Amino acid sequence: DKGNHRHFMQKEIYEQPVVVAQTLRSYLSRIDARVSLPIPEFDLGAIRRVTIVACGTSYYAGMVAKYWFEQFARVPVDLDFASEFRYRAPVMEDGGLALFISQSGETADTLAALRHARGEGQKIAVVVNVPSSTMARESDLLLPTHAGPEIGVASTKAFACQLAVLAALAANLARAKGRLSPEEERDIVRHLEETPAALNAALANDPAIEAMAHVIAGARDVLYLGRGTDYPLALEGALKLKEISYIHAEGYAAGEMKHGPIALIDENVPVIVIAPSGPLFEKTVSNMQEVQARGGKVVLISDAEGIAQAGEGCLATIEMPKVHPLIAPLVYAVPVQLLAYHVAVAKGTDVDQPRNLAKSVTVE
Ligand code: M6R
Repeated sequence: DKGNHRHFMQKEIYEQPVVVAQTLRSYLSRIDARVSLPIPEFDLGAIRRVTIVACGTSYYAGMVAKYWFEQFARVPVDLDFASEFRYRAPVMEDGGLALFISQSGETADTLAALRHARGEGQKIAVVVNVPSSTMARESDLLLPTHAGPEIGVASTKAFACQLAVLAALAANLARAKGRLSPEEERDIVRHLEETPAALNAALANDPAIEAMAHVIAGARDVLYLGRGTDYPLALEGALKLKEISYIHAEGYAAGEMKHGPIALIDENVPVIVIAPSGPLFEKTVSNMQEVQARGGKVVLISDAEGIAQAGEGCLATIEMPKVHPLIAPLVYAVPVQLLAYHVAVAKGTDVDQPRNLAKSVTVE
């Protein structure tokens, strides 16, 4: 049931504040301000390396997690698409954790990779949205997302809930490694608890995004740029746009532009820049200005501070709430989802059932 929404995708985008709160409730303990995961049958503190494997949007959630695990727990992380991982003879030492992320828990490539990692002596953790799925049954540590059924082929609320779980896992791993003080953990819990309200504030941009969608709908190519954890979001934004609006889009690490892709820039290529104010802002803005100097039309997604500093000369700006960097990837997912959604609606494509795609990909 779509309720009063036009499409399941729109309904699922709007459900995010509620389902993220729901997911966080089972991973945060308010009383002692700690993250609390199901107790694994193995010692998290003994993990020396994490291998993250997934496909599509779930892979981009994994890419955000790589930044977090390395930053907070100082554990080295390998990350791969399931379809590549399985066939590249990956090196996995004993005592490693292999982490599989999947909305459906049935994606054939990811499942094959899981079984391969099991054969290589890895502990298996899964982040899945379907608790009765095959991946859930074959795991040593089951970390469910509580997004509820996701019907739209384009994954939205599952991604947000995956990030919520992965942030909790990062904090738990950091604590197990002796890298997180109780004060730091309390801060992480506090920031995560701010997410649902920040998601609501992000959703308030819907009319502004809808109003500019026709400009993007007329483009043949669109670029998305970000740095740090906003880089996976740039990739995710491009994937969303491609799959439902059929417009060619690419996500790039902002600093990579000058190594090739900037040659594509002219006044016909809109460039979506994802840049919350913070430590990486200046650098991203200088990449953005390189684009503008070549006639590129920029849509800047930032907070009031960032827009005041760099919004001039942009085709459009989308003003996000000011959030802690930890939760920024969850919150900044909303405008890229809404943009893809409204562009697809403007183009009249089948938003919930895009051509050539299935919700669950059960062939390798
Ligand atoms: O069910 P999974 O999370 O394993 O699915 C992985 C991808 O097929 C999926 O995320 C796909 O990329 C989405 N359609 C993206 O919106």
